[in-house]
Amino acid sequence: MKIVCIGGGPAGLYFGLLMKLRHPAHQVTVVERNQPYDTFGWGVVFSDATMDNMRRCDPVTAAEVEQAFNHWDDIELHFKGQVIRSGGHGFVGIGRKRLLNILQARCEALGVELVFECEAGSSDQAPDADYPEADLVIASDGINSRVRSAHADVFRPDIVTRPNRFIWLGTRRQYDAFTFLFEKTAHGWFQAHVYKFDAHTSTFIVECPESVWLAHGLDQATTDESIAFCERLFAGNLQGEPLLSNARHLRGSAWLNFQRVTCAQWSFFNGRSQVVLMGDAVHTAHFAIGSGTKLAIEDAIELAGLLHAAGHRAQALPEVLQRYQALRNIDVLRLQNAAWNAMAWFEVCGERYCDQLDGPQFMYSMLTRSQRISHENLRLRDAAWLGGFERWFARRAGLAVADDQPAPPPMFTPYTVRGLTLKNRVVVSPMAQYMAVDGLPGDWHLMHLGARALGGAALVMAEMTCTSADARITPGCPGLWTDAQRDAWARIVRFVHAESDAAIGMQIGHAGPKGSTNAPWDGAGADQPLAAGNWPLLAASAVPYLPDLPDLSGGQVPRAMTEADMQQVLADHVAATRRAADAGFDWLELHCAHGYLLSAFLSPLTNRRSDAYGGSLQNRLRYPLQVLAAVRAAWPAERPLSVRISAHDWVDGGTTPDDAVAMARAFRAAGADMIDCSSGQVSAAQKPGYGRMYQVPFADRIRQEAGIATIAVGAISEADHVNSIIAAGRADLCAIARPHLANPAWTLTEAARIGYTPVAWPPPYRAAQSQLQAGFARDRAAAAPAKVEPA
Ligand SMILES: Cc1cc2nc3c(=O)[nH]c(=O)nc-3n(C[C@H](O)[C@H](O)[C@H](O)COP(=O)(O)OP(=O)(O)OC[C@H]3O[C@@H](n4cnc5c(N)ncnc54)[C@H](O)[C@@H]3O)c2cc1C
Ligand SMILES: Cc1cc2nc3c(=O)[nH]c(=O)nc-3n(C[C@H](O)[C@H](O)[C@H](O)COP(=O)(O)O)c2cc1C
Repeated sequence: MKIVCIGGGPAGLYFGLLMKLRHPAHQVTVVERNQPYDTFGWGVVFSDATMDNMRRCDPVTAAEVEQAFNHWDDIELHFKGQVIRSGGHGFVGIGRKRLLNILQARCEALGVELVFECEAGSSDQAPDADYPEADLVIASDGINSRVRSAHADVFRPDIVTRPNRFIWLGTRRQYDAFTFLFEKTAHGWFQAHVYKFDAHTSTFIVECPESVWLAHGLDQATTDESIAFCERLFAGNLQGEPLLSNARHLRGSAWLNFQRVTCAQWSFFNGRSQVVLMGDAVHTAHFAIGSGTKLAIEDAIELAGLLHAAGHRAQALPEVLQRYQALRNIDVLRLQNAAWNAMAWFEVCGERYCDQLDGPQFMYSMLTRSQRISHENLRLRDAAWLGGFERWFARRAGLAVADDQPAPPPMFTPYTVRGLTLKNRVVVSPMAQYMAVDGLPGDWHLMHLGARALGGAALVMAEMTCTSADARITPGCPGLWTDAQRDAWARIVRFVHAESDAAIGMQIGHAGPKGSTNAPWDGAGADQPLAAGNWPLLAASAVPYLPDLPDLSGGQVPRAMTEADMQQVLADHVAATRRAADAGFDWLELHCAHGYLLSAFLSPLTNRRSDAYGGSLQNRLRYPLQVLAAVRAAWPAERPLSVRISAHDWVDGGTTPDDAVAMARAFRAAGADMIDCSSGQVSAAQKPGYGRMYQVPFADRIRQEAGIATIAVGAISEADHVNSIIAAGRADLCAIARPHLANPAWTLTEAARIGYTPVAWPPPYRAAQSQLQAGFARDRAAAAPAKVEPA
């Protein structure tokens, strides 16, 4: 085959040499507009895992690259006068020039034709059209790929420009760890990402938000002025070494914005040749995760491998190229997701973490920024550092831990709020059972909540319990509108207090527009009106939850509440609160989420009122805040009160995470101790971004920006998740719903799984404890050691 690579970066060069190596009969040309030794940039970082891949494909190149590598294990943070260092991260750094020179020399040795100082494409012709005789054109022409833009209709690129500014500099100052420097200025925080890539030189990337950059007038600064600014900013660390630029030849500002590139289609036939995008031309990954070159190299490996397997036949190209996209896309998306999280962390750290977190927790948050690195993975990297961190965390939680003693993992540290100390950070999330009769909780509820109280969680929340008969979601919902209901709850509370060391909480709520429906397993299913016996619904506005349902008489289109309705519902909440206190509950949660009555006031999708209770967020908050204040006044001062909100409606025009921060501030001011950060279920049109721990970012943001403790909930399914959420300060407690539904002893099971044994089991169950622990210990010993990827 005739193969032309447009662009002699890592992707084009490595693909060219792999093809020639595997099948010398190919005629391979790499066209590069620059001179052989002329390149921008300083060093790039690989992980050990990328090196394994390269060793498999071409041991000769790998050996040369390895010789030129600087290998280091440590990450060092300089923050608020502290230096914190942890190890085991396994990075390799190499000068970009050095890498390209090795690849160029290997290409030449194998017979790849290298054509320098040759720009493919003229103003009126796509670059790939320059090579009509080629069977395969590799568009490895980098982030600003002209091949991609010339065929944008085919490749359908999606390019997102990010708000932070960065400048890519170098320094001769010696660093022996991947170093992160944070400096506060009058206008905000700057950070530098620093890594050594040869014996004398380190890459030094300085980054800040656009607003901070503008406030310092850096948009007006020349490259030299910008460098002088950065030298002054990091003078304390640079020890007199200057910062260096090798991008002076570039036009425009030396400060760049990162562009995230993805493409819907990676290849096509241009009438003469098959054309395929590779490397930065088709996808980019932010430098916060340092993997752009890794992706480029791995693209080359995948495509060369597929062509080899297909016998190097030109006829196989269309099929191979489709397969290349299908296979690579999975890895690329995974890495881009991780890179996106890491990038987003650096975009917000100045306003969200730098001032709020202490050094050790800031380090932990930074190390786990991509959400790929979990607590146990950190232990694998550097058990001593994590052990020290766990001691620091446990002491902050009030435990006395000696320096030579292991501390409990963050999940098993106590948490005190008002007069209540929870034994650990796990809450059994409220889960409707629809098993009450006339609002009375019965044996089912005793069994359900009792079993979970014995199962290790610190706090067991009762399901949404309704403030009046008409406030129910279904006829099977429990209530607190009668003294008989209070007494039935008191029986359950007594059991939990007598037989376990868990606390028990009550969630009160009013179904609002989502009332008068079936239990999920009855009739037409969840959210559907009852076949008979519907009751009238109240809501902020006459907006039905399911818009296409017929208006059943007394049924599914709610009535907009009058002032009198509001007073009545408020009084019902207060009465239910008093009964919950009398029943002995330790904790109260006000349900303001999921489209129920108070949630329907908060969301602009469901609140269309034109009076003082509708319109602005301040107005939409008015009634829920009145209810909260009244409930707080009726709830004993020493007992905690949380508010559950939907922090995101997942619908355009609905509540956003920005609104959620403002709501949290208002609830805090009205007496809430905690915000329980759920999302969605406000509109049937929602499109939630489900995924592992997908609602945790809301809890994190509210905690840092609204200054109130938070409960994270949603797809938190392992102790490892809980530990990393709590340790990083993304939330104070984690609520677990479905996993604790499936396994009442989920918390005890997870403790055994991670090998944390000093947890108290109920005495009659202790025979199971050591057996379970031994089984998990065997599993851990038999498991293959996990791979360490860069943070
Ligand atoms: C600040 C910063 C830090 C980074 N740090 C890292 C890191 O630590 N680790 C890492 O792995 N990656 C890092 N990267 C990303 C990395 O540089 C790229 O992901 C990687 O170089 C992509 O390789 P590539 O071959 O696809 O593209 P490139 O390396 O960009 O190569 C494209 C080549 O095509 C040439 N070209 C373009 N158009 C034409 C044309 N029409 N005709 C002829 N030649 C053409 C260009 O001159 C260039 O040489 C960083 C990037 C930035 C901006
Ligand atoms: C069967 C079931 C019933 C639920 N009932 C309630 C409820 O009464 N009140 C509430 O706020 N959330 C309720 N939820 C939501 C959960 O509390 C939790 O927020 C959600 O299931 C996500 O957590 P998970 O991924 O751990 O299941 C319920 C969830 C389930 C699965």
